[in-house]
Amino acid sequence: MLIIAERADITTLAVDAIVNAANCSLLGGGGVDGAIHRAAGRELLESCRKFGGCPTGEARITPGFKLPAKFVIHTPGPVWGGGTRGEAALLASCYRNSLRLAAEAGCRSIAFPCISTGVYRFPAEAAAKIAVDTVRSWTENLPEKVVFACFSSASLEIYRRLLGAGEGA
Ligand code: APR
Repeated sequence: MLIIAERADITTLAVDAIVNAANCSLLGGGGVDGAIHRAAGRELLESCRKFGGCPTGEARITPGFKLPAKFVIHTPGPVWGGGTRGEAALLASCYRNSLRLAAEAGCRSIAFPCISTGVYRFPAEAAAKIAVDTVRSWTENLPEKVVFACFSSASLEIYRRLLGAGEGA
């Protein structure tokens, strides 16, 4: 499993699945959620409605519609509340549940945004460490490629440092 970090708008990535940092309604929003819904088109919202929402830390998969990616995996991350409300465990389950759905759908490549580090205010460095550690410890049905799609150079810098010279292509 190749794990890389790159500066990217996740909506442009032609991977099998992109992960959406959604909210529990799954009805769209701002940030990367808004960008993905805009790029995928109206059908994505229709497809999300049928779930009737999604609890924090869980994930739901839909087609990618107009996106280059075949699938979108929607996962509501935790809102940062200071770190004493199980935020770390919930964020790790976002990554694990997304990897599980991707494996079930036969995805060979998956791209993650920096879940919870925008509107949800999860500290970027701590979130990135949880993301990298969770992906690295995933051992079932590995995808061939995991991309951490960093929207800012600051995020990219964090991921590149965590991945080390070896893997952060
Ligand atoms: N591609 C990749 N990453 C992006 C993009 C994009 N097009 N747009 C934003 N990001 C990055 C942000 O810079 C941030 O690092 O995604 C990360 C997550 O930020 P948010 O999108 O704010 O997501 P989050 O912090 O998880 O908050 C989720 O915000 O948009 C609403 O509906 C969403 O209520 C939910 C909440």
